[in-house]
Amino acid sequence: MELFIMLLRLLCLLPLAMAYRTLSDATLKGLPTPGNDFDITTGALLAPVLRPRVSGTEGSRAVLQHFIDFFKMELPEWRLELHNSSSTTPTSNGKPVPFVNLIATRDPPNSGVGDVGRLALVAHYDSKLEPVGFIGAIDSAAPCAMLMHAARSVDKALTKKWAAMAADGTDDLEDKKGVQILLLDGEEAFKVWTATDSLYGSRALAEEWEATFHPAASTYKTPLDSIDLFVLLDLLGSKGPTVPSYFKTTHWAYKHMADVERRLRNLGLFKSSPNHALKVAKRKNKNKRAEPYFLTEANKGDSAYYGGYIEDDHVPFLARGVEVLHVIPSPFPHVWHDITDDGKHLDMDTVEDWARLVTAFTAEWMELEGFFDARTKQKVESAGKSEL
Ligand SMILES: *[C@@H]1O[C@H](CO)[C@@H](O)[C@H](O)[C@H]1NC(C)=O
Ligand SMILES: [Zn+2]
Repeated sequence: MELFIMLLRLLCLLPLAMAYRTLSDATLKGLPTPGNDFDITTGALLAPVLRPRVSGTEGSRAVLQHFIDFFKMELPEWRLELHNSSSTTPTSNGKPVPFVNLIATRDPPNSGVGDVGRLALVAHYDSKLEPVGFIGAIDSAAPCAMLMHAARSVDKALTKKWAAMAADGTDDLEDKKGVQILLLDGEEAFKVWTATDSLYGSRALAEEWEATFHPAASTYKTPLDSIDLFVLLDLLGSKGPTVPSYFKTTHWAYKHMADVERRLRNLGLFKSSPNHALKVAKRKNKNKRAEPYFLTEANKGDSAYYGGYIEDDHVPFLARGVEVLHVIPSPFPHVWHDITDDGKHLDMDTVEDWARLVTAFTAEWMELEGFFDARTKQKVESAGKSEL
């Protein structure tokens, strides 16, 4: 009997290690929309982030508090941690600047701290010191809001899924899979980007997580080890992004994201698409236009990777062997590091589409098909009107 159970466990565990389950069309159509939460002046998620928030300043503290309030009020099941570090910077006159990363984690109930493999969804929340008044809407206020939306959108389905697994006794048979939002501080250089003037928060966090050990006999040795995939969003929210596949070892995950993008577009759920009903209604020539895909390299071959990558918060994790999916456009949007990177220059349809895509990818990763509420109970959007 015992042997039988062991075998059963093995059989279940092995194929599930990298399990991923696509959502049905009906579920994709029913995914929550952000409603007005991305409005740049009144939106509950985005508006409070659209202010200067240089590390160590009042703006930074206020934005961090906004995130904390959001999780405490709307997502009480998520475990919140602040990871603090400090460092002098080229502009701090020898005084240490505090850097505070926010970590919000949702694990299956009753799981040991070292036994959960996680999807980490990451963006930085600090803004650049210069130019004065810089907002950093794509860099990375909008990505932070997208992650808040994604977390909120999958929360109830996670509860349902884990309750169902506990009820039918399968919660012990499957790999424990959790999800984690990392909102990182101190990504920007204070003066000129160098190895020491940049990535203050992510360097400190990767270093600490590499050296923090879980209890003996845990499935995962350290919190760093527990990251199955590190998905970093950056510079998102301008119109017409093209995001390459940067890493061969995570191309399989890139392909999943590209595939769900294609399905969302085909279902008419991408607002920035020239073939979205609202866009077609506004023009004379109704002919179908080419889809401007965000993820353009789904068919990239193994020999097309040359090892180049963009320096960003994933680097300290990548250097320690973490698998990374870097969702950043190349070329960069033209507002990048310019004073024009503000709320007004965001393309709201594109922001919403990214939020929908990241939500769908997260729900597929977490295998949530069948655990979303029926569509009629959710806020759905049709023909541009929101209705309850
Ligand atoms: C980390 O910093 C925050 C904000 O500055 C502070 O509220 C918190 O107590 C600090 N946490 C630890 C563990 O030092
Ligand atoms: Zn930047």
